[in-house]
Amino acid sequence: VSLKPHNTFGIDANARYWVEVANEDDLKTVLQLTDFINQPKLILGGGSNVLLCHDFDGLVVKVAIQGINVSREDDDHIYITAGAGVNWHELVQFCVQRGYAGMENLALIPGTVGAAPMQNIGAYGVELEQVFESLTAVHILTSERKTFTHAECAFGYRESVFKRDLKGQYIITSVTFQLNKRPIFHTRYGAIQETLTEMGVSDDRLSIKAISEAVIRIRRSKLPDPSQIGNAGSFFKNPEIPKIQFDTLKDQHPDLPGYPMGDDVVKIPAGWLIEQAGWKGYRSGDAGVHARQALVLVNYGNATGDEILLLAKKVQESVHDKFGVTISPEVNVI
Ligand code: EPU
Repeated sequence: VSLKPHNTFGIDANARYWVEVANEDDLKTVLQLTDFINQPKLILGGGSNVLLCHDFDGLVVKVAIQGINVSREDDDHIYITAGAGVNWHELVQFCVQRGYAGMENLALIPGTVGAAPMQNIGAYGVELEQVFESLTAVHILTSERKTFTHAECAFGYRESVFKRDLKGQYIITSVTFQLNKRPIFHTRYGAIQETLTEMGVSDDRLSIKAISEAVIRIRRSKLPDPSQIGNAGSFFKNPEIPKIQFDTLKDQHPDLPGYPMGDDVVKIPAGWLIEQAGWKGYRSGDAGVHARQALVLVNYGNATGDEILLLAKKVQESVHDKFGVTISPEVNVI
């Protein structure tokens, strides 16, 4: 089975077995089938955070569990439960249209609901964990279902327990979100303010609809649409470096941006480092560095996973040579 239509990088790799599951019972059944029980497994949602470097000699499970439901509400919150296969942006629109606040800054992120907690997706000053309540997941070996609380997910910057201690052990089947009835606007991110001004939205007319519209405009202007050019969003994470190292770098490069993370650590934009190292807009064959956002690697058509990975390694090395900073991939390299 070709995985090309099932990964946003558009890499042409094959899977030995492929199955799409529409509900939790089917998922459990598939996991217990004697043919599959000993096969290596790769779980795909929207395929928007993987780089496939070879054929997958095992079972690929596409989680297509649908459904968006209001599960309960209290004075301040609405709780929404969505199936893992729901398209992330559809969920954001569902909430924005109904005035359920909290996800509007996360508009247009590619991928599915089930993949979102894996790496605690985030954009424009908001991370998934700020609206996350709990999730259900099925254990790959035992088929047992478990509910994970916020604390149990151990969220960090583009991190969760599912990328660390429990890597490869659970399949997320549904996620419950806690949305606010009274919005708290997150507009500190510079580009949001600028775009709202361009849109003619004054402070007294601010709404979650306007914010989601601003985010959509920013993303469309900077980030390549995976249906046009293959990509998996940011390829690297923004590195966090000791404040002392940041101060030294800042002396050498006065326009280096930095975001303090407490007193001793500064997060710096990998996109800036990559651009300064001369990679922005670079292309070799069909593998390239996006011309409007250097953090995004792109497949212009027929690049292989290995060609993208080779480019990523060259970028990493050159950033390290120039700045002494190690950048590491955000996408899962398979
Ligand atoms: N920058 C450059 N050159 C570039 C790209 C960025 O100099 O080519 C500089 C910008 O000038 C700016 C800073 O880097 O000062 C930050 O840029 P931007 O606002 O575009 O955000 P980012 O740090 O590059 C992160 C996320 C994105 C998210 C945006 C907006 C990560 C790994 N990436 O990118 O997430 O959309 O912030 O919040 O944290 C994703 O994860 O796939 C993703 C797209």
